Amino acid sequence: MNKSESPIISVKGVTKRFGSFTALQDISLDIRPGEIFALLGPSGCGKSTLLRIIAGLETATEGTVAIDGQDMTGIPANKRPVNMVFQSYAVFPHMSVADNVAYGLKLERRPAAEIREKVAEALAQVHLSDFAHRKPDQLSGGQRQRVALARALVKRPKVLLLDEPLSALDAKLRDAMRLELVKLQESVGVSFVIVTHDQSEALAMADRIAVLKDGVLRQLDSPAALYKRPVDRFVADFIGSINMFAVTGRRAEGGDAARLETAELGAIAVPAAHLPAAGKGALTLAVRPERVKVGAKAQKEAQGEGGLVSVAGRLGDVAFQGNSSIVEVLLEGGGSLSALVSEAEADHLMQAESGSPITAWWALDDMLILPENATAA
Ligand SMILES: Nc1ncnc2c1ncn2[C@@H]1O[C@H](COP(=O)(O)OP(=O)(O)O)[C@@H](O)[C@H]1O
Ligand SMILES: [Mg+2]
Repeated sequence: MNKSESPIISVKGVTKRFGSFTALQDISLDIRPGEIFALLGPSGCGKSTLLRIIAGLETATEGTVAIDGQDMTGIPANKRPVNMVFQSYAVFPHMSVADNVAYGLKLERRPAAEIREKVAEALAQVHLSDFAHRKPDQLSGGQRQRVALARALVKRPKVLLLDEPLSALDAKLRDAMRLELVKLQESVGVSFVIVTHDQSEALAMADRIAVLKDGVLRQLDSPAALYKRPVDRFVADFIGSINMFAVTGRRAEGGDAARLETAELGAIAVPAAHLPAAGKGALTLAVRPERVKVGAKAQKEAQGEGGLVSVAGRLGDVAFQGNSSIVEVLLEGGGSLSALVSEAEADHLMQAESGSPITAWWALDDMLILPENATAA
């Protein structure tokens, strides 16, 4: 499916108030045909509310939702070309798999031949054709989840809306089902909108992710762009792990540079072009652990023109993670930072006593300078 065609869902200026509480604030976003789109953010940020407004289970206080170019204002949930898959994966235990899938169509009194055909197709889509006559208690957790998906797909929606689809599963099954959902989406071709509070789930599954905080859309981007170019401190902190240092003072340096003061790193001169263009509030310097090198002294490698940031500290804990380790560096200016190092580097570092002097460094180009909130004016 061509992902550049016009949006399958277009949310414009949606605000939702419950009494005096604002659950969503002026949300605008487009969802493309054939993509997996994640709504990501901490519990209570408004993800489910936005999904329910798209589904027609909740009414926006302001703004509009269009699906496939059609304004959905006033159109009830059961008349919208979307289908919701609920968190609990409720399947009827006394009905066979096929009867579970047929249930919605039977309620609509569709002809028997049509029901048979559509059920067979939906079961084939989720690879459960051979399980049509089983009862749900004769299925694994993952298979039961596929029954729930088939029940939604049998209505042939243009978009499937999934609210925390994996949260009821245990950790191991959850990882397997991530992949399976992605494969299923690829083979079915309809857009999925997935609500999750789990950033690793969103990164692993989604083509694009909308990060919400307190009802405000903070950033909408691909997983890689969110990770590499978070727009503010909140997004950087929420996606992956990152070292952060509060900027306590700032002054203009000679030429086209600024001098940023931090307690942990001292003063660092940065090109003015690195300073955030938007947002408000205190600045934060941030660097991902895999960008930090550690050793006896900073070495300038082929790291571009930007120069290095280096900081003296002492060796702290080394946490083994299999093929890599997290090294803690206790900084002389207070606080600590984490560096992700290879197994070989960790072995080498661990020949030194805990507490021995050590230097951490990274390329200036790898350091992010983030506002507190890029959307705040
Ligand atoms: N029907 C409602 N009445 C009042 N407040 C609600 C209602 N539904 C949701 N909220 C509030 O709106 C906020 C967002 O809720 P929700 O969309 O469920 O968050 P999320 O799915 O991101 O965890 C929460 O503070 C929640 O308490
Ligand atoms: Mg929710």
